[in-house]
Amino acid sequence: MYRFLISCVFLSFFFSTPQAQTLDVKKQLDMALQQYELMLKEHPNTDKIPHSMYADGSLRDMPSDWWCSGFFGASLWYLYEYSGDTRLKEAAHRWTMAVEKEQYTTNTHDLGFMIYYPFGHAYRQTGKEEYKKILLQGAQSLGTRFNKKVGLMKSWDDYPACDFPVIIDNMMNLEYMIWAARETGNSYFEEMAVSHADKTLANHFRKDKSSYHVVCYDSLGNVVLKKTHQGYSDGSAWARGQAWGLYGYSSMYRLTKKKRYLKQAQGIADFYLAHPRLPADKIPYWDFDAPGIPNEERDVSAAAIVSSALLELSEMVGKKKATQYRAAAVQMLQSLSTDAYRNRPGEMHNFLLRHSVGHKPGGIEVDVPLIYADYYYIEALLRYSRWQASSKK
Ligand code: GLY
Repeated sequence: MYRFLISCVFLSFFFSTPQAQTLDVKKQLDMALQQYELMLKEHPNTDKIPHSMYADGSLRDMPSDWWCSGFFGASLWYLYEYSGDTRLKEAAHRWTMAVEKEQYTTNTHDLGFMIYYPFGHAYRQTGKEEYKKILLQGAQSLGTRFNKKVGLMKSWDDYPACDFPVIIDNMMNLEYMIWAARETGNSYFEEMAVSHADKTLANHFRKDKSSYHVVCYDSLGNVVLKKTHQGYSDGSAWARGQAWGLYGYSSMYRLTKKKRYLKQAQGIADFYLAHPRLPADKIPYWDFDAPGIPNEERDVSAAAIVSSALLELSEMVGKKKATQYRAAAVQMLQSLSTDAYRNRPGEMHNFLLRHSVGHKPGGIEVDVPLIYADYYYIEALLRYSRWQASSKK
């Protein structure tokens, strides 16, 4: 009997899946603190912003005009919020101010990531007017990309296939516009965001709720082309694109309470979670239709974004769906926290996560750490720990 029990314990340990492990949020966040402290040491100058790695293992730092320049400062604000460590507050301020000049940028739609994330967290946590002033200027700059006739914000200026491309990623800028509307009392910011979300809802999605990456419009707002840029093919479901859509419509519902956004977010979540090619550990391949599955790279960044979005969505739906979405998000976080995807202090220049894909068709950032994967992982851990704390009350 004794021998039988020992073998049961041994077998259950041996065959335990990552899903069966519990998620130790504190352990993961404490390790993130160590890693980003080391990352700060490796980055004495704020003109070289941590972004990723090259294939040879060297650092791929970027200047402030790169679309990802705000994520490092924003992550430091989250880690300051978690730890209360004033050295992190000072670092968060320094890396936030590193992108200050981008408040005047009008040639990209990415100001939601570049300005709203770092300065938004800074303002939320400190209430300082200096941050708010920069946020408001950035929102003005972003608003210049909205075309009233088309009813959308233009994503890129230099897209060879058409003059007015809109990418699904652009949903991530809408929270910034709504923040600006409510902060200034100028409802035009919100009207732009709602118009953009509505036209995207009408034109970016297929029947199964998967999305195109790029939709091109003519000057009257008619659709002229539906394409991909970073996905496998025009008709495929690029994993991060699905993640941006899910996150974007979840936050649009939180902010506006318009039921059509909730319905859209749930549709995207259900498409994603029920997909037959979503692996058992719930870390997607870089494109759900990539031809070499199962021998294709995973995209950890998509998993991190989706886990955070599902935790938000689970706060806004009925009990049954909430339980399903939260369980899926936690499973994603558990997988991300295993050695398969999670770096240890000192590994890979102290990025938290490995195995993301930036732009596979362009041969750029394939199977590397990406700073935005880290950001959404931290955000999801914090969202989950807040939920754990509130559910114990
Ligand atoms: N917004 C660019 C990307 O998701 O790669």
